[in-house]
Amino acid sequence: MKIKTHILILVISVSVGLMSLNAQSSNAIVSSNSIHLEMDSFIDSLLQKMTLEEKIGQTVLFSAGWDVTGPTLDKNYVSYLKKGMLGAIFNIHSAKGSREFQRIAVEETRLGIPLLFGYDVIHGFKTIFPISLGEAASWDLEMIEKGSRVAATEASAAGLHWTFAPMVDIARDPRWGRISEGAGEDVYLGVQVAKARVKGFQGDDLSKNNTILACAKHYAAYGAAQAGRDYNTVDMSERELRDTYLPPFKAALDEGAATFMTSFNELNGIPASGNKFLLTDILKEEWGFEGFVVTDYTSINEMIPHGFSKDEKQSGEQAINAGVDMDMQGGVYLRNLKTLVEEGKVSADKISESARRILILKYRLGLFEDPYRYSDENREKEIIYKDSHLVDAQNMAKRSLVLLKNENNVLPLNKNVKVAFIGPLVKDEKEIIGSWSARGDRSGKAISVYEGVEALLGVSKNISYAKGCEIVGDDISKFDDAINVAKNADVVVMVIGENEGMSGEARSRTNLDLPGVQKQLIAEIKKIGKPIVLILMNGRPLTLEYENSVADAILEAWWPGTMGGAAVADVIYGNYNPSGKLPVTFPRNVGQIPIYYNYKNTGRPWDPEKKGDNYKSRYLDSPNTPLYPFGYGLSYTTFKYSNLVLNKGDFNFNEPIEVSVTIANTGDFDGEEVIQLYVQDLFGSVTRPVKELKRFKKVMFKRGESKTIYFTLSSDDLAFYTQDMSYKAEPGDFKLFVGTNSQDVIETRFILK
Ligand code: NOJ
Repeated sequence: MKIKTHILILVISVSVGLMSLNAQSSNAIVSSNSIHLEMDSFIDSLLQKMTLEEKIGQTVLFSAGWDVTGPTLDKNYVSYLKKGMLGAIFNIHSAKGSREFQRIAVEETRLGIPLLFGYDVIHGFKTIFPISLGEAASWDLEMIEKGSRVAATEASAAGLHWTFAPMVDIARDPRWGRISEGAGEDVYLGVQVAKARVKGFQGDDLSKNNTILACAKHYAAYGAAQAGRDYNTVDMSERELRDTYLPPFKAALDEGAATFMTSFNELNGIPASGNKFLLTDILKEEWGFEGFVVTDYTSINEMIPHGFSKDEKQSGEQAINAGVDMDMQGGVYLRNLKTLVEEGKVSADKISESARRILILKYRLGLFEDPYRYSDENREKEIIYKDSHLVDAQNMAKRSLVLLKNENNVLPLNKNVKVAFIGPLVKDEKEIIGSWSARGDRSGKAISVYEGVEALLGVSKNISYAKGCEIVGDDISKFDDAINVAKNADVVVMVIGENEGMSGEARSRTNLDLPGVQKQLIAEIKKIGKPIVLILMNGRPLTLEYENSVADAILEAWWPGTMGGAAVADVIYGNYNPSGKLPVTFPRNVGQIPIYYNYKNTGRPWDPEKKGDNYKSRYLDSPNTPLYPFGYGLSYTTFKYSNLVLNKGDFNFNEPIEVSVTIANTGDFDGEEVIQLYVQDLFGSVTRPVKELKRFKKVMFKRGESKTIYFTLSSDDLAFYTQDMSYKAEPGDFKLFVGTNSQDVIETRFILK
């Protein structure tokens, strides 16, 4: 059966050794002493046999070029491999291909040390889940973990040992195209999602052949690139770094993340790949990281244009001495480390140390026992696009959709209503899987919105279609078709957005409006006077003030993946009540950026209710508030929050702060709600944000049901980097808020003594 037919049938039915170790999912590299000793003695004796060149070889990573994810400087990786001068390869992605390269490593090199195969498996390998930002919008940690588990299962069957994921960069600037690859703007949500993803990729036992090494990237503060321009400079206080940007990395490490990737940016004048403070002082010494650090693509070489290294040799010296263990694609270590050791600029121990870290992970994966254990063509065939993976992808996609507006309950649609589907993304099966979509097929596989609707409705005379326009460009010649189709319908559903090439690496934008003539098309359709539902596919917050003013309903679908169209159909026809919440603020206009919910108050906060309130922190031409706040998302039902109660008013340090709140489903549908708890530390030795997310729970409420929901906090949850840079909570007054998003909350207060 053709895969597409198979998937569609599924949509319908769904809508209805020597070295084998039991590695643990903790920062401890191995759990038991005897295993540790066995591994140590194996690695020690291997290192003793290795020449300096062979040790350097372990630190070298080159792309095979099957996928191009950056500039290619050196294509001779096979010759390096044969000389034992290559430790790892990325951008190959099949059982057969990996087996062939592994054969060369094992049979044709002096010591037969197996290769490590890496790849960017970000939100799926073949079965593509929603983009990472979309997954985060589900606030469903179990599903997020499952998404990474499915990705690892498929990737490992195609010979891969290592994914360059998760990206755990906090991102507060939607101009930055890579905002699509992470979990959004918030520290607490970012921490939870980072843990879920690492757990999903690595499982609880790295020696199983369906688990892969995770890589927490991009270390560090890459999301704070100035002006949202990719690769740009970052300059921030150590307090901001530690309070906001580092916690998801620390969480990934605590969850056992085996590898870390440096970032492209400089941080306070020092490029991340030459940054000893980040890589050695914090990561390896303060946090005790025992895995290995890989650079991002050619980022050692890039320290020259940064103005940090005067030549390639110096860049290699700076990188290895800063704590970089593996050089991705730059060839700097390959060409320079030996000379640097001979010149006494780099110690031979330093090289052995990096080689050891890499060899340990090869050992933990079981590659010395069986180098081909991941390269199994039969397993590959069996696992790829497995039914259960498609079901999980559809479930994840449904949960990632965020309902931004629903005037007069235009959604969900009645199946008997005549609907015109209009827009460049209605029948799309290419963009829908989004950027960084690994081996996801861009034609013939993903379910478009139109196919999803057809599969759900069966043969229906109630749906019609017109493309209307392309995503980009200024061609309005198809507008008339769209207008005619719209005229004959009761409701118009427009599926519009960005193309996948507009978000991701090197895809920063200064204008976050819908591209091309899509806005114009909406304006033309609006003139007809039919209710308009917008379904948006995009990789970042867009500026949607106009759309918000004319559309009756807006559903943010991100790029929802292989089963995205089926998920959208489920939601718009009411098979699933949307429950997603924004993991990132949607600004009204680009001038408000960076805009995020946990800002500081300033000395002159503006109260828009007070007329003539001059000399306040505000814009002349725009409100301060966003269009849609962090945590926002509607449901087909409504929830009422009441009875926010704490067990006491005053708390000692380490005493549990017990919170209860009553939530009632007051609408007409069963539905899930993400209940969000925020705090504000009112006065501190350094100022604190107006709100900080500290807990959330996603809970199902039957129609008419009311439940009391409990949370427990401790003083540890209130800690931050204080004036003297010690990490602790300070006594004082706090506000505690619970609500349906970061703006609509009920509140109470407490004191920490
Ligand atoms: C550059 C990207 O920044 C990084 O995220 C990715 O993992 C590497 N290229 C490898 O493709």
